Order: sequence, then structure tokens, then C-alpha cells
Amino acid sequence: MRRYSRITGTGSFLPPRRVTNAELAEELAGRGVETSDQWIVERTGIRARHFAAPEVTSSDLGAEAARRALEAAGRAPADIDLIIVATSTPDMVFPSAACILQHKLGISGCPAFDVQAVCSGFVYALTVADAMIQNGTASRALVIGAEVFSRILDFNDRTTCVLFGDGAGAVVLEASEVPGILATDLHADGRHVGILCVPGTVSGGNVLGDPLLKMDGQAVFKLAVGVLEDAARATLAKADLTDADIDWLIPHQANIRIMQSTAKKLKLPLEKLVVTVDQHGNTSAASIPLALDDAVRSGRIKQGDTLMLEGVGGGFTWGAVLMNF
Ligand code: UT7
Repeated sequence: MRRYSRITGTGSFLPPRRVTNAELAEELAGRGVETSDQWIVERTGIRARHFAAPEVTSSDLGAEAARRALEAAGRAPADIDLIIVATSTPDMVFPSAACILQHKLGISGCPAFDVQAVCSGFVYALTVADAMIQNGTASRALVIGAEVFSRILDFNDRTTCVLFGDGAGAVVLEASEVPGILATDLHADGRHVGILCVPGTVSGGNVLGDPLLKMDGQAVFKLAVGVLEDAARATLAKADLTDADIDWLIPHQANIRIMQSTAKKLKLPLEKLVVTVDQHGNTSAASIPLALDDAVRSGRIKQGDTLMLEGVGGGFTWGAVLMNF
């Protein structure tokens, strides 16, 4: 009998400080940076985001999301035999946020590592965990997306600083005879490194280069709308399913216009699109598990529903995971 992986619990956590567009615009005005609630809503769909306090790290947010996912799955931390954290804003250069988070959950021994694929990080991490469960390396994994993107934002650059927020989402993924994850599809194209990056690095005790986020928004936008449709179609073909089989589309939450265009290309009514970008902004690797948990806890996503998860971001990276929930 084929061994599948299946989500048995979801959880998420947002830092308490919620900043509306109007509040952010007022703060930015103090720096001479001009923006408005109207511009941000019209161009992105974002109305608010959460920012973590300065001492709070990705592993703090991720550990809280993980505790909630474990509770939903009816599991204890000691039941977990694999931890993968998707993040581009880890607590330190090394060790991984996953090792720090493992310790915060009070467990030790199981493999723990980070996956770095920026906003595609969660679909990358889920694909790795699925493969490790299918081949018997693990049986009960925690897969987490956790970010403090506020740390790498240039608050003098209105074209990027209004877009991102902090948060974490997590799932417990377990071995199952009943199909959960049906198909995955991952890609990267390093020719596009420069269109979305944080070019700085640590060298000789100094930061070398600019450690703040740079994005050519229009270039990212154009690439994103094309590749998201391709990745979705590739997973559907692998699973022998069609557009009509998708109950819920849960794309990376970067821009409502990209999300709606993907739904349209897949001929999905907008009611099937899970949207949290309005309340969370773009939380990079955390955005998909945050949106998933929101839709599960609000009762929209039910057991047995077919979900299409899609990520796209820096690298350039993209991918999709098709699953039965
Ligand atoms: O997470 C990884 C994936 N990331 C994404 O998917 C992001 C993809 N890109 C986007 O979402 C959009 O390209 C943005 C939201 C970043 C920008 O939207 P856009 O419709 O492409 O705007 P634009 O860059 O063409 O800028 C239009 C105008 C410009 O002014 P001019 O040149 O027309 O006078 C900008 O200077 O809007 C101006 N602008 C702003 N105005 C007020 C740019 N940012 C702001 C701002 N407030 N925050």
C-alpha cells in the first residue's frame, strides 16, 4: 500500500502589534516618505500587517504556531520526528531557526533544518517533508513558515516597505494510507536573482553590501502570474485532476491582483480563493500556512477538500502542492 503524507493539524501566530495602512503612512510621513492607504489597497489589497517586537525572532513566532498545530493534531512535541522551517529571516546566521525552535518545543534528537526559498519556502518545505515521509525517513513532521520581514525592510523605500509583515504558520504532516499530498511541483531560475533580493552578507565582522530588501516589483509581478498557472497545471496533470477538482486555492499572499489573476486562469470563482493578504500583508514563507490555518479555523476548509497551495518569490523560485485535506 502506498505511503502518503497528510496534514493532521494547522496553527498560526501573528505578533500582537497590528499596523494599518493609515498608521504606517503616518509613520513614514515622519521620514518624508509619502504613501497612502488608498495606493496600498488599490495596488496590493493590503490593509494591515503585523510587526514583531524587536526582541522577537522567527523561531519565537514559529514555535507558537507549531504549538497550535500540534494541539490541533492532538500530538505532543515528543511525537514529532522531523522539523523543517521555511524562513529567509532566521534568528542568526547559524544554527538554523529549526534547531532553535526544536529546543523551544522542549524536544531533541529528531532532524531539524531550515529551507530557504524565500516566498516559495513553505511549498519547498512541504515537498521535502512529503518526500521524507513517503520514503520512510520520517512519520510525523512539523513544517513551519516563519518570518520577521520587518527586520529587512528599507523604511525609506515606499515601493517595498508597505508590502511586508511578520508572522508564522505551521502544519503537522503525518504518514497516512489515505491520500493527503497528491502532487508537488518545484522550480527555480537563478537568472532572476537580482529582481528580489537582500544583497548584503556578513563578512569579517561587518555587514558587506546592503542588508535591506530590494525588489523590481513589476518584473516579479510579470513572472509570478505566468509561473503560478504553470505550476498549478503541472500538479493537476501529475494527479490526473482538473481545475474543476480544486476546492480551495491558497496562493502565496503577496498581491491580491496576482492571486485573482491566478484564480481566473484556473477558471476558479473568487469564492474559492483564500485571501489573508488584506490583514497580514506579504509574510513571505509564512503566508501560505497562515492563510491555510485561517481558512481551516474559520470552518471554510473541511476534511477531504482538495487544496492547491502555490508559492512564488525570490530566487526566482516557484512551486505548487496539490493535496486532499
Ligand atoms: O513575495 C514575493 C512576490 N512578490 C510579489 O509578488 C510582488 C509583485 N509586485 C507587485 O505586487 C507590484 O508590482 C507592486 C505592488 C510592488 C507595485 O505595484 P505596481 O502597480 O507595479 O506599481 P508601480 O511599481 O508601477 O508604481 C506605480 C507608481 C509609481 O509612481 P509613478 O512612477 O507612476 O509616478 C511609484 O513611484 O506608484 C508609485 N508608488 C507608490 N505610491 C504611493 C510605489 N510605491 C508607492 C507607495 N505609495 N507605497
